[in-house]
Amino acid sequence: MKASIISTAILATAASAAPALHLEANFYREAIAKFSAADFAAAGFNDTNFYKNLQEIGRDEQTHVDFLTTALNGAGVTPVAACTYDFGNLTPSTFLATASIIEGVGVSAYLGAAALITNKAYLTAAGSILTVEARHNAFIRGNLEMSPFPQPFDVPLDFDQVYSLAAPFIKSCPASNPTLPVKAFPTLSVGKDVQMPIMQGETIEFDLAADMQVPAGPLFVAFPLATGTMFSSAVVKDCKIYARVPVSVYGPTGESFAILTTNSTVVNDDNTVAGPAVVEIMSSYLA
Ligand SMILES: *[C@@H]1O[C@H](CO)[C@@H](O)[C@H](O)[C@H]1NC(C)=O
Ligand SMILES: *[C@@H]1O[C@H](CO)[C@@H](O)[C@H](O)[C@H]1NC(C)=O
Repeated sequence: MKASIISTAILATAASAAPALHLEANFYREAIAKFSAADFAAAGFNDTNFYKNLQEIGRDEQTHVDFLTTALNGAGVTPVAACTYDFGNLTPSTFLATASIIEGVGVSAYLGAAALITNKAYLTAAGSILTVEARHNAFIRGNLEMSPFPQPFDVPLDFDQVYSLAAPFIKSCPASNPTLPVKAFPTLSVGKDVQMPIMQGETIEFDLAADMQVPAGPLFVAFPLATGTMFSSAVVKDCKIYARVPVSVYGPTGESFAILTTNSTVVNDDNTVAGPAVVEIMSSYLA
C-alpha cells in the first residue's frame, strides 16, 4: 500500500502506538527472563497456567510490534525502533502491579486512537489488538485480586496523555528514531501515603513535579471518561494538590486517570497543567 493513500492520522496513530508497543514487549521479555514460574509461585501467583499465560501475553505483545512494523514498512514508513527502558527493580508483585497499569494504559491508548482512524480495515486491525489488550489487563487484575472488569466503560486517552504515562519508563531512544509528534506533560503523582483503591467521594492528594510552575487562577482535576469527563475543584497547598473523586454511577472506577487542568468543562492538551496520574478507584455504588 502506498504511503500517499494513508491518511496522516493513521501514520500518526501507528507512529505513536509503536513506542508503546515496544515498551510492552520489552517489559514482558525482561520479566520473563528475570523470573521463573517458581519465583511467581513463591510470590503467591501459583495458579495453574499462570506463567504460561504470562509468556503468552509477552508473545502477543511482540507479535503486535512485528505486525505494526511490517504494516509501516509496507506503507513506506520507517517504523521507530525500540528504546531503552527502565522499569525499576521489579519483584514478581511489583511487576504485576506495573503490568496491570501498562495494559490499562494500552487499552486507553487504542480506544483514544480509534476516533482518528478513518480507514475501516485499520480500525478493525486496531480493534482486534484493543480487545486482546483488554483481556491481558483483565487477566492481570484478576491475579492481583482486583476486579477484572471494574467499570462498564473504558477510558479513551489522547496521544500526549498516553505518551506522558509511558515517558517515565523511557530512558533513551536511538538517535535514528524520528521525532514523534507527541509531548509529555509534567508529572502528576499520587501522594506517597495515599492508599489505593480510593473510594469515590474521598479526597486524593497529588504531588507535583518539584520544578513545576502552577498557573494562577482556578485549577481542576479532570477524570476523563468515555461517558463524559468529570471535574473536581483542585486545592493547591504546599506543593500538593487535593481533589475529591466524583461520586457517580458513571464516575471513575477501576484504573482511572486524573489530569490537572485550568478548565472545568473540557480537558485537552492546551489546558492540561500536569498528568495524567493513574488512580485506582472504587465505586461507591458497588455493594
Ligand atoms: C498458592 O499460594 C497460596 C497463597 O500463597 C497458598 O495458600 C497455596 O497453598 C499455594 N498453592 C500451591 C499449589 O502451591
Ligand atoms: C474551557 O474550554 C472551553 C472549550 O474550549 C471554552 O469555551 C471555555 O471558555 C474554557 N473555560 C475556561 C474557564 O477557560
